[in-house]
Amino acid sequence: MMRVMFQLNGKPVEVEVEPRMHLADCLRDELRQTGTHLGCEHGVCGACTVIVDGAAVRSCLMLAVQAEGCTVVTVEGLSTDDALTPLQTAFRKHHALQCGFCTPGMLTTAHALLTEEPDADADRIRSALSGNLCRCTGYIPIVEAVLEARAAYQKTDKP
Ligand code: FES
Ligand code: FES
Repeated sequence: MMRVMFQLNGKPVEVEVEPRMHLADCLRDELRQTGTHLGCEHGVCGACTVIVDGAAVRSCLMLAVQAEGCTVVTVEGLSTDDALTPLQTAFRKHHALQCGFCTPGMLTTAHALLTEEPDADADRIRSALSGNLCRCTGYIPIVEAVLEARAAYQKTDKP
């Protein structure tokens, strides 16, 4: 077992893991952050996407021990219980989810994109989300929702 320490959704965490445990299992099974979903477990579906040091990362392809000293944000860290975030509001308005399995990965990927590129156009958004599979929506409402949420990221006070 190895001890790993990192920042998770703004709080320091410390956890003992097997060296072979990937970050997604660590988040879900050890730290009970089950908003991160596991679909394929080999880097294809994007459901497990979290934000590590500002970049969208597939947590099934990263070992938990590689998170040592990193800042990790999961879908739980993107919102509060008080109000929907601009991305959540736009996803609801545009019916950008049905079963919701892909949604945590879509939200984390879109948040990482818009934080870096708040003016991303539809082509850029499609490109950024191209590694996130959705079996329900046909993708068009997801792109529309992310386009609409851009306005909140274009302000100085980023969500
Ligand atoms: S579960 Fe990680 S990419 Fe599919
Ligand atoms: S909403 Fe069902 S997989 Fe995307």
